[in-house]
Amino acid sequence: MKFFIDTADLAEIRDLAATGLVDGVTTNPSLIQKSGRNFIEVVKEICSVVEGPVSAEVTATEHAKMLAEGRKLAKIADNVCVKVPLTPDGLKTCKALRNEGIQVNVTLCFSPAQALLAAKAGASFISPFVGRLDDIGSDGMGLIADIVQIYNAYDHIETEVLVASVRHPVHVIQAAKMGADVATLPPSVLRQMFNHPLTDKGLAAFLADWAKTGQSII
Ligand code: E4P
Repeated sequence: MKFFIDTADLAEIRDLAATGLVDGVTTNPSLIQKSGRNFIEVVKEICSVVEGPVSAEVTATEHAKMLAEGRKLAKIADNVCVKVPLTPDGLKTCKALRNEGIQVNVTLCFSPAQALLAAKAGASFISPFVGRLDDIGSDGMGLIADIVQIYNAYDHIETEVLVASVRHPVHVIQAAKMGADVATLPPSVLRQMFNHPLTDKGLAAFLADWAKTGQSII
C-alpha cells in the first residue's frame, strides 16, 4: 500500500519525506488556503521534495476552463497529478487530460457509481472520502470495499483506489485489508501509526538494561 500525505505544509512534508515512507502528496484548495502560500509556488516546491504524484486541484467548474487550468498545473513539474472534482465537467476534463498523458486524481467521490464513472473516464486515482461519509452517519469504509470489489472485477480498470479523508490509523488498516492501493494521510495520522505504548515501554527497558552493561557499540 502506498502512503501519500494530505497537506500543503512544506515543513511537515520535508519532515515526513525524510522517513522514506512517503510516496506522494495530496493537496486541495482548503489545504492551500491553510498554508497561506501561493498555489503554483507551493506545488512546485512540494514536487521538488517528493518524487511521487503531487495532486493539485483545479478550481474552475466548467470543462474548457478546467482543462486550461489542468494543463497549466501539469506544466509545473512532471510529477503533478491534476485533481478534478467528480462532476460531468470534471470527468470530461479527466478524459481529455489523460489523452494528453497527464495524471488525474478524481476527487470528492462518495458512491460506487461515481467511482465506476471515474474509472471509465480513465482516472489515474479515485479519491473516496471515508471520514466525511462517517461524519454524516454513513459507512465510509463500506464505500472502499465496494470500489475495490468493483475495480477488481475488471482487468482493464487501472484506476488506483486512493483512500481520502482519513481520520485515524484504523481507517488505514481497514483500507489495507481491503486491498486499497493508496491512503492519503494527514501528517498526524502517519505519526500516530508509529506509536504503541508497548514499543515505548520495551525500548525504555532495553535501554535501561543496556546502560547497566557499561558498553557502547560505537
Ligand atoms: C484528499 O485528497 C482530500 O484532500 C482530503 O483527504 C480531504 O480530507 P478531509 O475530509 O479531512 O478534509
